[in-house]
Order: sequence, then structure tokens, then C-alpha cells
Amino acid sequence: MAHAPLIAPSILSADLARLGEEVRGVLDAGADVVHFDVMDNHYVPNLTFGPMICDALRAYGIEAPLDVHLMVRPADRLVDDFARAGASWITVHAEAVDHLDRTLGVIRDHGCRAGVAFNPATPLACLPYVLDKLDHVLVMSVNPGFGGQRFLPSALAKVSEARALFEAGESAARIEVDGGVNAETIAMLAAAGADSFVAGSAIFGQADRAAAIAALRSGIARGLAARSQARTDSRGP
Ligand code: DX5
Ligand code: ZN
Repeated sequence: MAHAPLIAPSILSADLARLGEEVRGVLDAGADVVHFDVMDNHYVPNLTFGPMICDALRAYGIEAPLDVHLMVRPADRLVDDFARAGASWITVHAEAVDHLDRTLGVIRDHGCRAGVAFNPATPLACLPYVLDKLDHVLVMSVNPGFGGQRFLPSALAKVSEARALFEAGESAARIEVDGGVNAETIAMLAAAGADSFVAGSAIFGQADRAAAIAALRSGIARGLAARSQARTDSRGP
């Protein structure tokens, strides 16, 4: 059965001086999950926040799932730290861990949902081998490191490929997309089979967050309608 779509605002684009308020604001405006971008100035050319900020959001009273996207190398020690700091989902990059199967197992052992991310030029080659350890896959639709970049359309074929692999393997894992997601690109992504949508500038860059999230949801609805039409057409008369 298809998952209900989830919208995950990326706090990278929030006003960081008012982070607690910003996060509460987007959740009140209809967001489902809080996307938390961790960058180490090594795996990616930018530096953001560590587990203490995750902990601070929990202490502030944020109860929604915290979706921690680790753009770091090495990743394993931070997995433990973020799990203890209140992470709900933890995603590592396929290119950044030496023993993906083991790392995904460690994430689940902490009681978190385990995910693997793929950069735009990284094939999904390892995906069939970790299907039973995965709760979600994260398809990057920009090169990781910065918010506000332009969507790379090659992500669409990759989302379709992941969806086909999950259907063939009877996996219930989610397909999350990250980078350049806006009211237009989200429709194409939903049509391709994505069900979880990270958006930074398309939400925090807008004054009216409720309107921004509503626009994303109507894009998803358009995409899902196109997807079900395409499936009906492919079955023929
Ligand atoms: C990029 C990050 C994204 C980023 C998305 O490396 O992983 O989560 O914040 O920002 P937008 O939605 O503005 O492309
Ligand atoms: Zn991210």
C-alpha cells in the first residue's frame, strides 16, 4: 500500500537565530517531519550543526520526527550521537560509509529508521543488497552541500528505478527526495514514485509557510493523479 506523502522542511534554510520558533512554525503550518542537514566540511564543502542542536530542539518541545541527513565522513560515530540526541530517522550516504549493511543495522538497533542517500551521479547499485535493512532511500536531486540549488531532472529516473526495485522486492521503504523541490518539481517527483519530500527554500524562503506547504501538497496531488492515470493507460483498454 502506498504511503501517505510526507513533507519535510529542511532547517538549513530556516532563520537559525530563531530555530525553535521556526521549526514549531512549519509544523503548525502542516509539515510532517523536520529535515536536519548535517555537513562536515569534509564530505561536503559546508559546515552546519551537530547533535547538540538536535537535543536542543527536543528540549524546546519539538515532538515531530527528526530526519537527520548525515553528509559526513566517517558517519558511524555520529549515528550513535544523533540517536542519543533524539533523531528519529538517520540517513547515511552510500558513498560515505565503508560498511553500509552494518551501519544500517546499527541505526535500527538504536530504534531509528534507517536510510541510505545517493548523490546525483551515484547509481543505486547497492540497493537490492540492503532492502531488508532499509526504511527509506534518499534520492538527491542536487549535489549535497547547499540549499537553494537547481533541481537536477536525472533524479526522476532514479526515483522510478527505486520504486521499481521496491515493488519487485516487496519493500515498504519510503522514497525521499532532497534538493530543488518546489511546487512544480514535486509533481514530477510524486508522479515518478517519491512519497517523502524535503524542501528548504520552497518553505523557509516563503513568508507564508502554510501557503507554501499547501502549494507543495497540491503539487503532490497533481503528480499522484498523473501517476495513476499513466498506470491505467499502460494496462490498455
Ligand atoms: C542539500 C541539503 C538539502 C537542502 C535542500 O545538501 O541536503 O536538504 O537543504 O534545500 P532546497 O530545498 O532549498 O534545495
Ligand atoms: Zn538534506
